[in-house]
Amino acid sequence: MSGQWQEQVSLKPYNTFGIDVAARYFTDVHNDVEVRQALADAKHRQVPVLVIGGGSNLLLTADVQALVMRMASRGVRILADDGQRVIVEAEAGEPWHPFVQWSLAQGLAGLENLSLIPGTVGAAPMQNIGAYGVEIKDVFAGLTALDRQTGELREFTLEECQFAYRDSVFKQHPGRWLILRVRFALSHVMQAHLDYGPVRQRLSEQGIGQPTAQNVSDAICSIRREKLPDPVELGNAGSFFKNPVVAAVLADRIRLQYPGLVAYPQADGQVKLAAGWLIEQAGWKGHREGDAGVHRLQSLVLVNYGQASGLQLHQLAQKIQADILERFDVRLEMEPNLY
Ligand code: EPU
Repeated sequence: MSGQWQEQVSLKPYNTFGIDVAARYFTDVHNDVEVRQALADAKHRQVPVLVIGGGSNLLLTADVQALVMRMASRGVRILADDGQRVIVEAEAGEPWHPFVQWSLAQGLAGLENLSLIPGTVGAAPMQNIGAYGVEIKDVFAGLTALDRQTGELREFTLEECQFAYRDSVFKQHPGRWLILRVRFALSHVMQAHLDYGPVRQRLSEQGIGQPTAQNVSDAICSIRREKLPDPVELGNAGSFFKNPVVAAVLADRIRLQYPGLVAYPQADGQVKLAAGWLIEQAGWKGHREGDAGVHRLQSLVLVNYGQASGLQLHQLAQKIQADILERFDVRLEMEPNLY
């Protein structure tokens, strides 16, 4: 029923940047029936729809003249367990980190490196979330999405999702697919991924030689808490830019001037650069313009010190992009969706 829509709702609590714009209409949807009903009502009333999860990958630059539909479906279940591999399904509205914690409490490994990422289960495949050497594609076992063009449900396999670095078929076709529930292939036995950055070192500092999945999760939580601001305390959307992938010749050219360049060779011969490092070298770390700023410990994270508008944050981002292009000939692409 369209009567359940709220009008002129502040979106401040619903985006992790804490930006105070209003939604013309707002509704929570808890299951497939409510999703379909809200979409049908919106179509009938000719109101556009913006679907959100945890609002952790969103930069709102103006009031939203649409129905903001927040995925609030809950539920987690084990679908299959052959003694080794366990298929777990979670509803789109499940908050991500509590879901990771639930899986660890069941003794299931696979999601430990993805601990403490803000957002929801349904948003995770959109940009193939990743951290500390693991991406969702590595533990993915399928998902169910609603085709907003036809109203039909569709199952997606790993290949069909076209996952790539912070990318998927869902991101490539904005507004087409609404992810309803996601399945993960977890395991009773952990296959540890400890090679990214400080993970192994953190564990050995703690005297842990044979870590459990819970140990790895704890180590990653502690590393993240040291560098990444908690959105509850300081508005942010995690990494604001993707790490750029550039031609090896360009990386070599930059290295001539900056021998400390942080670069990761890719399978295709290109090189992924640490955007945070480039931004820091360019002098932006800790920079602040009004309430919009670059985090003082992680330059890849833009922060809202309180009253920044989305436009102010976007302007700061554009200045950084222009400077990095001029200095390094590298184009930085925004990670959050701009509205
Ligand atoms: N670095 C700097 N200065 C900075 C920031 C980073 O020199 O201000 C250097 C670090 O010292 C390190 C390298 O850059 O040598 C990489 O830094 P870090 O390990 O912090 O990771 P990142 O590349 O900045 C990516 C993801 C994060 C993810 C971490 C860990 C992207 C866009 N970001 O960040 O994801 O948590 O790796 O895997 O790929 C997110 O997407 O929101 C996110 C937080």
